[in-house]
Amino acid sequence: MKNLLLSISALIFISAACMTNAQQEESSTAVGYEGWLKGKTDEKFNEVAHQLQGFSRTMWEVSYRYTELYFAGMDENWDYANYQLEHIDEAMEQGLIRRPSHEESAQTFVKVVIPAMQDAIDAKDSDAFINAFNIMTTNCNACHAMEEVAFITVKTPERRLSPVRP
Ligand code: HEC
Repeated sequence: MKNLLLSISALIFISAACMTNAQQEESSTAVGYEGWLKGKTDEKFNEVAHQLQGFSRTMWEVSYRYTELYFAGMDENWDYANYQLEHIDEAMEQGLIRRPSHEESAQTFVKVVIPAMQDAIDAKDSDAFINAFNIMTTNCNACHAMEEVAFITVKTPERRLSPVRP
């Protein structure tokens, strides 16, 4: 009887040890279209993070929305201007989470320039909008200078990029 009890507890111990081992030894899997996303969980997350891209992707979006914002203001389409400003803010926020090294240079843009533009849009005031837009443009370029990409100079957009019209 004593021996039987000993063997049962030994069996329980061994199977528990095997389970912990199985949990630690995570196997590689392949998911997504034709299994393009491969590896262990961390490897998959790394690949997804890489696919989300860095700050140039953020800037691509901000740059498009900056142009849309401008023409929204010119059209006095204040709801669309508001929409674009919200998305600029969100894109910057997400970009700074991915690349926090740009956070310091972005402070004026995020904390002063965006709120000033918000006030102009809320007031539906075209003169205030043009003024806020010029300040925004100056600040885009100021940040580029701080970030050593001064060769990327933005100016008031000349052409519309989307078919959105009031
Ligand atoms: C953090 C400060 C910062 C602010 C504010 C900022 N930028 Fe940038 N911008 C950068 C950096 C850094 C790069 C280069 C990114 C890289 O090399 O990955 C860049 C790159 C760009 C590019 C090139 C993107 C590409 O790869 O094709 C454009 C266009 C651009 N910015 C437009 C703007 C506009 C328009 C504004 C203002 C509405 C703005 N940026 C505000 C830091 C900033």
